[in-house]
Amino acid sequence: MEITKDILYIGVKDTNTDLFEGQYKIPNGITYNSYLIKDKKTTVMDTVDGKFTDEWLNNLNSALEGTIPDYIVIQHMEPDHSASLKIFCEKYPNTKIVANAKAQDMIKHYFGDMISNGFITVANGETLDLGCHKLTFIFAPMVHWPEVMVTYDSTDCVLFSADAFGRFGADENAPWDDEARRYYIGIVGKYGAQVQSLLKKAADYPIKTICSLHGPILREGNSRYIELYDKWSSYTPETEGVLIAYTSVYGHTKEAAELLKKYLIEKGETVKLIDLARTEWSFAVAEAFRFSKIVLATTTYNNDIFPFMRQFIDHLTERNFQNRKVGLIENGSWAPTAAKIMTDKLSGCKNLTFCENKVTVKAALNSQSIDAIKSLSDEICN
Ligand code: FEO
Repeated sequence: MEITKDILYIGVKDTNTDLFEGQYKIPNGITYNSYLIKDKKTTVMDTVDGKFTDEWLNNLNSALEGTIPDYIVIQHMEPDHSASLKIFCEKYPNTKIVANAKAQDMIKHYFGDMISNGFITVANGETLDLGCHKLTFIFAPMVHWPEVMVTYDSTDCVLFSADAFGRFGADENAPWDDEARRYYIGIVGKYGAQVQSLLKKAADYPIKTICSLHGPILREGNSRYIELYDKWSSYTPETEGVLIAYTSVYGHTKEAAELLKKYLIEKGETVKLIDLARTEWSFAVAEAFRFSKIVLATTTYNNDIFPFMRQFIDHLTERNFQNRKVGLIENGSWAPTAAKIMTDKLSGCKNLTFCENKVTVKAALNSQSIDAIKSLSDEICN
């Protein structure tokens, strides 16, 4: 596939892997993107996951049309992009590897002395002249590993963005937002400050096309994708509304959550209700970062809280959850303490505003807890 006259897509689609990076469900697959720049110095941008080395080398071979690559740029050493490097180097021993010093260390960690190709070491901001195309390397540490750099081609105004702007899903025509948000929050969400820093650096460059390592080529409306990345990485809510995330053992906590949803909808709020036991965690976490308000409803369990809620809160705090209004519903048949435990677990998060109206359900809803849910709905809407 041609991206510009000189830049070709040579990536692969993965529709077999069940858990990406060992933990994210990818029902619609994912792509591992790689690109070829045809110029006086023919240049490959990254490799692909090791399960697809043969397919990728075939794509590369067709695109090369009999030429030999002069350079391969390694932007990110995570194996979904670098695992095919050794076999590539065996096939093209004279191709130089263009990488920063940190990436070269990692190449040694992964491949020992099995790679004997020469290196070109690049510094932050350095430019490599391919003939017509000039590549500028912009270091982007922790987006998503420390060695990551993105690459700007000033000739075609293309940003090779490494993992940034990637999304789950192998179909290039599928909508971007939901699966890009889940990818971003899940994988890079902890590193908002580093993404903000990259966005500031990238603002100096006019960008017509974004070539990520996952998902579709973004050609038009790039400012919208950049705006969403700015929101996500600054922990700014994207949607005014309420996520109610609950766990329920016998259905009573679910009833409380559904009643709150009903009251909130009557007041004109946008509400999403998620059963944490039946929703894969990364979908739930992405929704928590999307909405401006969150209500957590769970039971006391083994002197703690129900495991799905405990894990959910861990995923939020691990990713620097902040800047939200929080409501709490607890249930306990004899000694409800879930609200205090949830408050303690969230205590390290910045700028959370806890609703004063906490709801306590003792086993099942009664007139007192129903009134408390009404009061909570009033407070959430204020
Ligand atoms: Fe797609 Fe951080 O690797």
